[in-house]
Amino acid sequence: MRIDVLTALPGLVDAPLRHSILERAQEKGVATVRVHDLRTYAPGKHHQVDDRPFGGGAGMVLKPEPVFRGVEAIADAEGEADEIVYLTPDGECLDQSTVNQLSLNEHLILIAGHYEGIDQRVRDQLVTRELSIGDYVLSGGELPALVLIDAVVRVLPGALGDSSSALTDSFQDGLLGAPAYTRPAEFRGMEVPEVLRSGDHQRIARWRDEKRLEKTRNRRPDLLPDAEDAEAS
Ligand code: ADE
Repeated sequence: MRIDVLTALPGLVDAPLRHSILERAQEKGVATVRVHDLRTYAPGKHHQVDDRPFGGGAGMVLKPEPVFRGVEAIADAEGEADEIVYLTPDGECLDQSTVNQLSLNEHLILIAGHYEGIDQRVRDQLVTRELSIGDYVLSGGELPALVLIDAVVRVLPGALGDSSSALTDSFQDGLLGAPAYTRPAEFRGMEVPEVLRSGDHQRIARWRDEKRLEKTRNRRPDLLPDAEDAEAS
């Protein structure tokens, strides 16, 4: 999969891509992520990417030209993207099923804007999908773009060492994760549950399923299939 990110703050997006799973996935050729500085596509001596909003108001708005030119340059070099995603708090809320669905694409372009906004013509004409990473406001779309990249890349086949691990993530089957323990078996008087040391894989699987259900019931009952019935009654 290829992911191109358009941003006025490339340094903010670059660094996390050079660590951990995202770095390894790129080294293995599972994903190619490229970050593009919108300034490159902003004409004029000052390469200005934003301007004051028409009609007044606080903050600056990203100008349309650098974004249109950036998207066109990427399409010329790499072909049309399957989706052009704009990260915005007023977008559809990102969840695991949207992540899985996005991971099936060959090519995504992510547009990270200032939180004050981007010229509406970009949203009307270029953007195919608007996504939010939660009901809170960040200073820009860069961190949300990274959240999206991390979530998508980790589910790509071959991204993780153990190919089954992404499938056992919390949310992947609608339940939260089971508690995890490592050595030592006893730490400051706290013991690892006996079942996990039993070597009995069936018992371990059953214990994990029970714990996952229990945690989901306690913390996120809304995730359980019968949540709506329970709310209605
Ligand atoms: N930009 C600013 N806040 C955001 C959020 N919560 N999700 C996506 N993009 C954003």
